[in-house]
Parts: sequence; C-alpha cells; structure tokens
Amino acid sequence: MKQQYGQILTSPKPFVKWAGGKRQLIPILNENLPETFGTYFEPFLGGGALLFHMLTERNGQKCSISDLNSDLVLSYTTIRDRVESLISSLKNHEKNYQKDSKFYYYSIRESNPRSQIEKTSRLIFLNRTCFNGLYRVNSKGKFNVPLGKYSNPNIVNEDNLRSVSNVLQSSKTSIKCRDFEAVLRDAKQGDLVYFDPPYQPVSNTANFTGYTNKSFTCDDLSRLADLCTDLDSKGCNVLLSNSNSKEVTDMFSSKPWKVNKIKANRSINSNSKKRTGHFELLIKNY
Ligand SMILES: C[S@@+](CC[C@H](N)C(=O)[O-])C[C@H]1O[C@@H](n2cnc3c(N)ncnc32)[C@H](O)[C@@H]1O
Repeated sequence: MKQQYGQILTSPKPFVKWAGGKRQLIPILNENLPETFGTYFEPFLGGGALLFHMLTERNGQKCSISDLNSDLVLSYTTIRDRVESLISSLKNHEKNYQKDSKFYYYSIRESNPRSQIEKTSRLIFLNRTCFNGLYRVNSKGKFNVPLGKYSNPNIVNEDNLRSVSNVLQSSKTSIKCRDFEAVLRDAKQGDLVYFDPPYQPVSNTANFTGYTNKSFTCDDLSRLADLCTDLDSKGCNVLLSNSNSKEVTDMFSSKPWKVNKIKANRSINSNSKKRTGHFELLIKNY
C-alpha cells in the first residue's frame, strides 16, 4: 500500500483475469529483468501482470503497452480517464446481477453497447462472472463464455480500479491498440521488450487462441521470431515467454538467445486437475 494525496492506495493489480496471465510468475520474471533499461514495452498486454509490477516497483518507469484486442485496450484508457463513471456503471451491473444472475449475465453477454463506459463495464462484468474468468470470442468476435459458478463474485473492486487509474495517469504510460510488430518502430537501443504472446500449442488439446477473433498462427510466430532478431540488432533487451514446444526451442536455439525452462502453473484450464505445474520457456538475449 502507498499513501498519495492523503489517500491510501492499494498496489495496482490486473483488473481482469486473463488466459496466460503472469501473476504467479512475477518473482521469476523479476529475477530475469536486466539491471537497467530505458522504456518498457509490453506488446501482448493482456491483464498486464508484469506492467503493474513495473509501475509499482520502479518509480517513474516509462512504459508503452499495446494489444490487438480493442475492447481490452479501451478498458485501460477508460480506467485511466473515467474511473468514477466506470465504477458507477459496474455497481449497476452488480445490483442487477444480484437480482437474477443467469438472466442478467446472458442479457449483457448478448448486448453490444456503444459508449466507452458501457463497453468497458461489460468487459469487466463478464470477466468477473463468466466461467473461469476467461475472455474468449468466436470467429465473429462475439464473446461466447457461459456463466460461471460463483456465489458472490467481486464485480466492483473499487480500490484496485482507482489504484490502476492513478498509476496509469501518473506514469504517462502510452496505451495503443495494434499488432505486436509495430513495436519495432518505437523501441530504441537499451529499451526492454517483454513478449508474452498466445502460446504455441504443445498438444492438439492445448490450443487456446481465442483472445481476439484472429488466432495466432505459425506465421505470426515466425514474424515474432524475426522481430526478436531485428530488436536484438537494434540493441534492445528482449524477454520472451512461450510454451515448452519444439518449434519455439528450435527458433531460438542459436546465439544470442538464452532459453531457460521454468516451472509454471496454468491458471486457466476447465479441468482443475490440469492446472498443476508444467514447464514453459523464458528466452532472453542479455
Ligand atoms: C498470453 S496473453 C498475455 C497475458 C499477459 N502477459 C498477462 O499477464 O495477462 C496474449 C495477448 O496477446 C494478444 N494478441 C494476440 N494476437 C496479437 C497480435 N497479433 N498483436 C498484439 N497482441 C496480440 C491477445 O489479445 C492477448 O491479450
């Protein structure tokens, strides 16, 4: 907790649960950061676990964040700029959900609000109440996760939303909706780029790529590997998470890449027995 303008603020944390979220890996990611770096780039932002760690631990750290999911990116700017209106809208969702959770959940899932506040509060409301807190859309971009089994979901985490808003305002973090490759234009020598893309499947059943209506293909993975090489040539520090798959290991097996296997827990799996430890890769060029 920190004190600001006479107000106690909790440390900001991800405001959505996101498939592949990195909260549990923060200690090991932290150990693997370079000692010094310029701007921090996170082009597959998702819930932004490492971003919030950066903003909490490194006062004044310059950050540039982006993701291809436009509703998700909008929610970061809404929280930064209009957090009080967002909290009111979420409280309204909470009240209606308590009256008839099933009816209300599916009516909001079918809705297609136009305003910035309503779009963001819909995303957060669905994320808090859907099955497993998963964000998944079908090929038409329609959110398609069923209602979750929660007796009392925490729909409005006011303290955290205010804390996220505060840190995004005071850090002047740049927030963009764009494809990951655009990072090459902005990153300079000495900057740090952390890539946490949708993972390369290690088996046919482990194929979760529903963050946006475009799935992450083998071509995207090749584009990413080329981009890592270009960033390395520019003198950037590159850190990359991915699954412990042969394709990824082969792509990064030559210098300057150091490929480390780390133990991780998969947090989103409908079968809780499959949420046990597994290995994934942490790759870096420094
Ligand atoms: C594994 S998640 C990131 C999880 C994040 N590190 C966290 O802690 O929550 C991958 C993210 O990549 C985004 N994404 C997928 N394809 C993309 C692309 N071509 N360019 C940029 N972002 C993309 C998805 O929308 C998703 O949010």
